Amino acid sequence: MLPAATTARANANLALVKYWGKRDARLNLPASGSISLTLEGLAVEARVAFDGGEADRFEIDGAPAEGDEAERLRHFLDVVRMEAGQRQRASVATRSTVPRGIGLASSAAAFAALALAGSRAAGLRLEPPALSALARRGSGSAARSIFGGFVEWHRGERPDGHDSIAEVLASPEHWDLRVVAAVTTRAPKPVSSRAGMARAAASPLYPAWVAGAEADLAEARAAVRARDLEALGLIAESSALKMHAVGLAARPPLLYWNGATVECMHAVWALRAAGTPAFVTIDAGPQVKVLCEPADAPRVAEVLAAVPGVERVLTTRPGLGAEVIA
Ligand code: DP6
Repeated sequence: MLPAATTARANANLALVKYWGKRDARLNLPASGSISLTLEGLAVEARVAFDGGEADRFEIDGAPAEGDEAERLRHFLDVVRMEAGQRQRASVATRSTVPRGIGLASSAAAFAALALAGSRAAGLRLEPPALSALARRGSGSAARSIFGGFVEWHRGERPDGHDSIAEVLASPEHWDLRVVAAVTTRAPKPVSSRAGMARAAASPLYPAWVAGAEADLAEARAAVRARDLEALGLIAESSALKMHAVGLAARPPLLYWNGATVECMHAVWALRAAGTPAFVTIDAGPQVKVLCEPADAPRVAEVLAAVPGVERVLTTRPGLGAEVIA
């Protein structure tokens, strides 16, 4: 008899040194390591029950999941079933605490919550490293959302990926930073991270991107340990811009930004030139996230909100890792 339904919650994370490229697409193994900050309040709750029936059933924010989304969830449940050695079909419901479709409700939070809830519901009690490896199979960045605070996900060397797991660099209490996010569109992104990475791998700049990763990771690790915002901000900005440069040089080109994305960057750089330490990072979409001190967050938010095309501004802080809530 399997345990009853399990519900877990996990927060999204913001990559400071980006994951952008895979060494194994099936196992979701990254071409290089990455470092992130788990963010409070940008959470997904997932409830999983292996309750039998003919087929798996999925509900996302109250609506049945379909197409590719359902396929990706089904595939992830197959991985959980394989690990647990059981065959029962499941019902899965996820609920996001961030409005959907603003490019901040990430697959990282969803698959971290699903890895924890799914493995428990299947009768497994995985330690955090094994949970991280499981979450990675759903979405690479989910490997990091198992943990709170500052997190490093290792590339690993093994072909089976057992060493490609995340670990804590520093707890959320280590450093009270703010991340101010500017939403520049609510339209769903036209190119997913997964598809974007596949395209970027053929870019002439891709080898240079991969070759530079270790140095970026070392710099970011040291900056986190020293709580050096200037050092961390500059490396985060550079990692993000290099990631986007790889896409720009690809054929066909890959550009996730809109006009407001660019204007936000200029606004933040002007603020910085005037003495406020604030640093930009951008993921596979047009939203801009800014790293700054708590005392400067209201000013950063004000400046971003004044950029034409910015629809909404959200401020968040370091958050906790995945937890079982019911
Ligand atoms: C730009 O983890 O969503 O946010 O492993 O294919 O599911 P898959 O990709 P995903 O990619 C995240 C890319 C990124 C950078 C990062 O989070 O490190």
